Amino acid sequence: MSHPESPEQSKAKKQTRLQSVKGMNDVLPVEGIHWENLEVMLREWLTSYGYRLIKTPVLEPTSLFRRGIGEVTDIVEKEMFSFVDRLNGDELTLRPEFTAGIARATIQHNLTYAAPQRVYSMGPVFRHERPQRGRYRQFHQLDVEALGFAGPDIDAELIVMLSRLWREMGLEDVRLEINCLGEAPERLAHRQALITYFEAHAELLDEDAKRRLHSNPLRILDTKNPTMQDMVNGAPRLSEFLGAESIAHYQGVKRLLDDAGVRYIENPRLVRGLDYYNLTVFEWITDALGTQGTICGGGRYDGLIEVLGGKPTPAIGFAIGLERLLELYLEVNQPDDTADLDVYVVHQGEGTSRRAFTLAEELRDAGFAVVLHAGGGGFKSQMKRADGSGAAVAVILGENELNAGTAAVKVLRGESKQEEFKQEGLAEAIFGLLYGEGEES
Ligand code: HAM
Repeated sequence: MSHPESPEQSKAKKQTRLQSVKGMNDVLPVEGIHWENLEVMLREWLTSYGYRLIKTPVLEPTSLFRRGIGEVTDIVEKEMFSFVDRLNGDELTLRPEFTAGIARATIQHNLTYAAPQRVYSMGPVFRHERPQRGRYRQFHQLDVEALGFAGPDIDAELIVMLSRLWREMGLEDVRLEINCLGEAPERLAHRQALITYFEAHAELLDEDAKRRLHSNPLRILDTKNPTMQDMVNGAPRLSEFLGAESIAHYQGVKRLLDDAGVRYIENPRLVRGLDYYNLTVFEWITDALGTQGTICGGGRYDGLIEVLGGKPTPAIGFAIGLERLLELYLEVNQPDDTADLDVYVVHQGEGTSRRAFTLAEELRDAGFAVVLHAGGGGFKSQMKRADGSGAAVAVILGENELNAGTAAVKVLRGESKQEEFKQEGLAEAIFGLLYGEGEES
């Protein structure tokens, strides 16, 4: 009989039980297959637009993100996993996004020296946010960057490319919001006008807004505070401060989107949470995922590479939150979640295990994906494993088969049938059994 634990015992147990870090999730094998399939789909799509893989380190100098993303952004102010390397005193940060790291690599390797580059990267990023559905402290992004292109054609190409992805994935409920952030002098003039306006309405500003009034007045426009909404709605708009070139760029993007039949909502409030953007910014949003409905965000960052010490290099890109994209995908599709396995080899009796081992290798030589049963057990329990493995056939090897130089093959999916074949030429026999005799592969 087991005794109930005292509260002290249960607390002590909890303290010693090792858990993943809050907001950082394991991807278990049942989900792993969906991640793999998603990655295959994404890589095919990226290749069809000429994008090539780039990989940058997960750790970068903290100063890269401070300079790149901006000191007065949520990410840099409160969301970075930063630490001092106690072995040499270096200040390091787990990347909270890819763009700054890719910009650093572009400068370090003079990547755009001969020609502009279309690159992508995929992997974990880290932000110390309050975890909830769709918001994690370690999450995954697919990041895409077009380096050395001034647009507006490339801006439109990236957006059209995304619209194709949603279509191919069967996602209908995603809307596109776009905005033009203009250039630095235009934003400066707008910023001055905003400060003047907010100062004139100082009695309506909450603490957060007061704090941001001079450091980042633009972020006040993002406020969720209902008592500030009317005042914020009447604030001067950036569009009133845009010059002819910015307007022409924005119109160029919109014209190409119209030509491609991509629908968009112009949202003058869309500012994005990172400081490096200019001209075109965009987000793709769904209502199907609750409050964290932005599955993709991006924009142009023509000044970033220069700010980080490189030559002036126009660039634009976006990142997709892969947890959110996968959740949305699984909501509208019922993708196949069985493993891509052809053969499960069942073996019993002395001497058969050695032959089963080499037979499994021969089948793999022939191109089959094969699991060799391990861990013993009777035929019945092994066949149960074979059934649960998702394999197309079980190859069964007992004493009799071993002596006769044969193997029994049982079809596990669809109409069940079993036949005995010579071990020599077994791969061809299995192929014939599955796909019919004489058919070419
Ligand atoms: P971002 O908007 O900060 O942009 O992030 C891109 C996407 O990452 C979001 O739209 C969302 O889907 C996902 N995401 C962000 N935070 C979380 C979180 N805590 N948990 C789960 N998913 C999250 C960037 O990161 C820019 N670097 C994009 C870019 C590339 N701009 C130009 N090039």
